[in-house]
Order: sequence, then structure tokens, then C-alpha cells
Amino acid sequence: MTGRFPVRSRILHWLTAVAIFAALLIGFTMTNEIGSHHALVAVHMTLGISILAIVIVRVANRFTHKPPNWPDTVGRLEGKLIARSEQLMYAMMLAQPLIGWAMVSASGTPIRVFGAITLPPIAPFDADLYGILRQAHSVVAYLLVAAVAAHVSAILLHTLTLRDGMLRRMTH
Ligand code: HEM
Repeated sequence: MTGRFPVRSRILHWLTAVAIFAALLIGFTMTNEIGSHHALVAVHMTLGISILAIVIVRVANRFTHKPPNWPDTVGRLEGKLIARSEQLMYAMMLAQPLIGWAMVSASGTPIRVFGAITLPPIAPFDADLYGILRQAHSVVAYLLVAAVAAHVSAILLHTLTLRDGMLRRMTH
């Protein structure tokens, strides 16, 4: 029987899962011009900045609390692979909102979130820089989709095929 994550970690995990899914969905929808582009960008930026705050708390929590041990079904090589892919997901979850913030800064538009707060720019007003960051924001978005798909597939493989209770570590 495998261990479980504490309530604090489970809340942070599912909060990021739902928020990132929403940010991806709104992001791809708004750039495809379905619905009101301006309103969607406003919601997307607020959601993205909230994700940044949640992920910072989550990373701090991860650094200060050791996760429960893997079930016996996870071999040494797979364990290493999981550790690397988790680091990569944390890096992308932190990088994506920062790229978004820097990209809007470089475009010279005010970064208004929660309907009232204007954030300071974190990058200079520069059209070339905006172009690079805009592309990076797309690339990281697709990489996040791929990482989430691989993550969910691996958990389902363990839970349904190896029946080692992997999913329960994050649900109960
Ligand atoms: C984890 C957080 C985030 C995720 C997963 C995410 C995801 C996405 C996705 C999927 C797109 C569409 C990409 C494309 O179709 O090429 C997008 C576009 C965009 N994102 Fe984000 N984003 C995040 C955070 C942010 C933040 C914090 C900001 C700004 C403060 C932001 C600003 C924008 C803007 C302005 C666009 C549209 C640009 C345009 O219309 O050309 N994003 N985002």
C-alpha cells in the first residue's frame, strides 16, 4: 500500500490542475477569436497571475515537505524519470505565467488583473522581445499540454493496470 499526500499538498495540486486547464482552454480559445477576445484576455491574465501565486506556494511546500514514498511498482529508473518530469512541470508552471507577464509588458499594454490592479512591467517595451516571448508562450503552452497528457497517462497506467493505488495518493 502506498502513502498519501497531506491535505495541503492535495489542495495545491488540484487547484493548479484546474486553473492551468482553464488558462490553457481560455488561452487557445481567445487566440482563435471565438467569443469576446478582450474579455477573455482579461480573465486569462488574472487566472495566469493567480496561477503564478499558487505555484510559488506549491513549490515552497514541495521544498519543505518530502512527498510520500513511491509504491513498490515504481522501479529505480522510473523513479528518476518521474522526478525529472516533475521538476520540468514545476519549471513550466512557473515560467509560463512569467513569460505571459513579460510578454504583455514588452507589448507596452498595461497589465490589469482582478479588474482593478495594474501590475508593473517586468520587461522593456520592445517589439522584437514581444515577438520572441509571444512565441515562447505558445511553445510552453503546447509543452504543458504534452506534459499533462503524459502525467495523466502514467497515473492511469499505474492505477488501472498495475493497481497500485497511485491516484489515491492525490485524491484521498
Ligand atoms: C500557467 C499560466 C498560463 C497558461 C497555461 C497560459 C496559456 C496560454 C495559451 C494556451 C495561449 C494561446 C497560445 C496560442 O494560441 O498560441 C495564451 C495566450 C496569451 N496569454 Fe497566456 N497563459 C498563462 C499565463 C499568462 C499570464 C500571466 C499572462 C499575462 C499577465 C498571459 C497573457 C496572455 C496573452 C495576452 C495571450 C494572447 C496573446 C495574443 O492574443 O496574441 N498568459 N496563454
